Amino acid sequence: MRKKVTVVGAGNVGATAAQRLAEKGVADVVLVDIVEGMPQGKALDLMEAAPVEKHDFKILGSNSYDPSENSDVVIITAGIARKPGMSRDDLIKTNMNIVANVTREIASRSPQATLIIVSNPLDAMCHVAYKVSGFDRKKVVGMAGILDTARYRCFLAMELGVSVENIQALVLGGHGDTMVPLPRFTTVTGIPVTEFIAPARLEEIIDRTRNGGAEIVSLLKTGSAYYAPASSAVEMAESILYDRKKLLPCAAMLDGEYGIKGLFIGVPVKLGEGGIEQIVELKLLPEEDAALKNSAAAVQKLVDFLAQEGL
Ligand code: APR
Repeated sequence: MRKKVTVVGAGNVGATAAQRLAEKGVADVVLVDIVEGMPQGKALDLMEAAPVEKHDFKILGSNSYDPSENSDVVIITAGIARKPGMSRDDLIKTNMNIVANVTREIASRSPQATLIIVSNPLDAMCHVAYKVSGFDRKKVVGMAGILDTARYRCFLAMELGVSVENIQALVLGGHGDTMVPLPRFTTVTGIPVTEFIAPARLEEIIDRTRNGGAEIVSLLKTGSAYYAPASSAVEMAESILYDRKKLLPCAAMLDGEYGIKGLFIGVPVKLGEGGIEQIVELKLLPEEDAALKNSAAAVQKLVDFLAQEGL
């Protein structure tokens, strides 16, 4: 049977995710947004591209959540995006209400779905969706680690002049300035990256990765990145829908793993038909562990804010 994915928010990330889901042959898509006519228009435009792109997947645009009923996966991108000078955390007040409302509508119609959260500040928005949905922690997962790791891999491939596919890497932690790229787990076809790049240069590349989102915001001026975020969310959806069991860095609700409890943090997880089927616990070096705890402390501050607001 065909899989069904609802994408909430038909803006830059949402519409790009819808396009990739259909054109890569992953699933039928329901695209929901509050702006009247806009999701319907984008969906129709994508359907009209189907004869040329050679697929028969359906993309339906709607302002109502009713067509989203019984989705297998729901990707939540609704909310406002950053403008130059804003941090992801600046979005919290607006986006927490949007993500809470969206989650209520979705959870009542698709209680079996796995939720993939994209709205920022990512780790805090995962927290909102988890609390409001009442879903098992396996069924709420945040898109950040794949994007951060993809940026890191892209910059390393550019530096070395090798295929992006040769670069294997892992970025842990929150989706923000405190993210934790791990050079120890960065290889070029299994060869430690430190064989190719001097420590000082590697540190510069890691720094560019940390600021990867801001670099795009400062270039675009009117919004934030969307091609790579959409690709990352679609990779997660595909692994869940087709039970691929890919090990991917994603934001997961930790319950004591890595010594952290009650927070969404980026860690390696196995994504399959059950959602998060396993959280992989790596033995971190003391400085890596300290960086992860620092990242968790930044997420905790946002969660404390949510608690004050009754979420
Ligand atoms: N219900 C449904 N859709 C909503 C709601 C709501 N309550 N509120 C806002 N939206 C829609 C907007 O109408 C808009 O079409 O969310 C969409 C957001 O799209 P963009 O403004 O283009 O933002 P985008 O770049 O897609 O980013 C969306 O993902 O990466 C994060 O930081 C980013 O939080 C931002 C989110």
